[in-house]
Amino acid sequence: MVKKLRKAVLPVAGLGTRFLPATKAMAKEMLPVVDRPLIQYAVDEARAAGIEQFCMITGRGKIALVEHFDVAYELEATLKQRGRDAELETLRAAQLSPGDIVTVRQQVPLGLGHAIWCARAFIGDDPFAILLPDDLILSDTPCTQQLADAYYQTGGSVVAVCEVPPDQTNKYGILKVGRDDGRLVEVTGLVEKPRPEDAPSNLSIIGRYVLLPDVIEHLARMERGAGNEVQLTDGMARMIGNTPFHGLRYSGTRFDCGDKVGFLEAQIAFALQRPEMAAQVRGFLRKYQDA
Ligand code: G1P
Repeated sequence: MVKKLRKAVLPVAGLGTRFLPATKAMAKEMLPVVDRPLIQYAVDEARAAGIEQFCMITGRGKIALVEHFDVAYELEATLKQRGRDAELETLRAAQLSPGDIVTVRQQVPLGLGHAIWCARAFIGDDPFAILLPDDLILSDTPCTQQLADAYYQTGGSVVAVCEVPPDQTNKYGILKVGRDDGRLVEVTGLVEKPRPEDAPSNLSIIGRYVLLPDVIEHLARMERGAGNEVQLTDGMARMIGNTPFHGLRYSGTRFDCGDKVGFLEAQIAFALQRPEMAAQVRGFLRKYQDA
C-alpha cells in the first residue's frame, strides 16, 4: 500500500558563504524574494502538496528560521489594535500549527546525506519530501505536488529533474536514464557532480525529492563521496533496483537562489507575478535594458 505523504525535511544548516556579508548574522534561507523569505516559499509549496509535518535540519545561528514559523504574540496584538487586518492575515498564514515543526541540529557539516540522516527519527517508516530552499520554483502546480502525484502513481521515490548544459554536470546529481516517457524517467543510476566527460546524461536533480524511508539505512553507512561528503545522491543510488525510482521532468521554472544572479532573477520573476507591482517593475526593467 502506498502511504500518504505527510512529512517534509528542510535542510537549512548551510553557511551561505556566497552571500556574505548579508548572511554573516542571518540565515541565508531568510533572504526575501519580494517579501517572503526563501524558507517560507519551501514550506508553502510543501503545504500546498498536503504536507503537514516539517523537520528543519538547522545549525548554529539559524534561530530566525524557527522564530519565523512561531506565533508573534506582541506583533499580532499590535496589528490587531491598529486594525491592520491584511498584515495580520499575512502573518498568520506563515505560522505552522503547534507540534507540526521540529528542528534537528546537524552539528557537523558532513554533507546533504548526513543532514537527511539526522532527521531519521522524524522520518521513521514514512515517505517524505525534501525541499532545498535555495531552489525556488515558479510553476502553476507546485513542484512538490507534481512529485507527490508521481509518487502515488509509481509507489516509489521520485526526484525533480531538468536538462542542464553538458558542461554543468559537475554542479548536480546526474541521472543514468532507463525508460523515458518524456516526463517520467526511470532511474538506473545516479552520480553526484560528475565531470562532463563522465556524466551518464545531462539530466540533473534539482532540490525537490520524494523518497521512501529506506534511504536512511543506506545513508547510515556514512560513506564519503564527492567532496569527501556523505552524499544524498549516493544513498539514493543504493535504493535503485529495490524499489521504484524515477526522475520527473517537472513543469515550471527553477531559480538557483544560492547564486547571486539566480537570486536577482527570482526577484524579478516573482515580482512580475504580483499584480500590484508588475507594471512598475516592467517599467524600471525597460529603464535598465540598455544600461
Ligand atoms: C545538492 C545535491 C545535488 C543536487 C543539487 C540541487 O547539491 O547534492 O545532487 O543536484 O543539490 O540543487 P548542492 O547544490 O548542495 O551542492
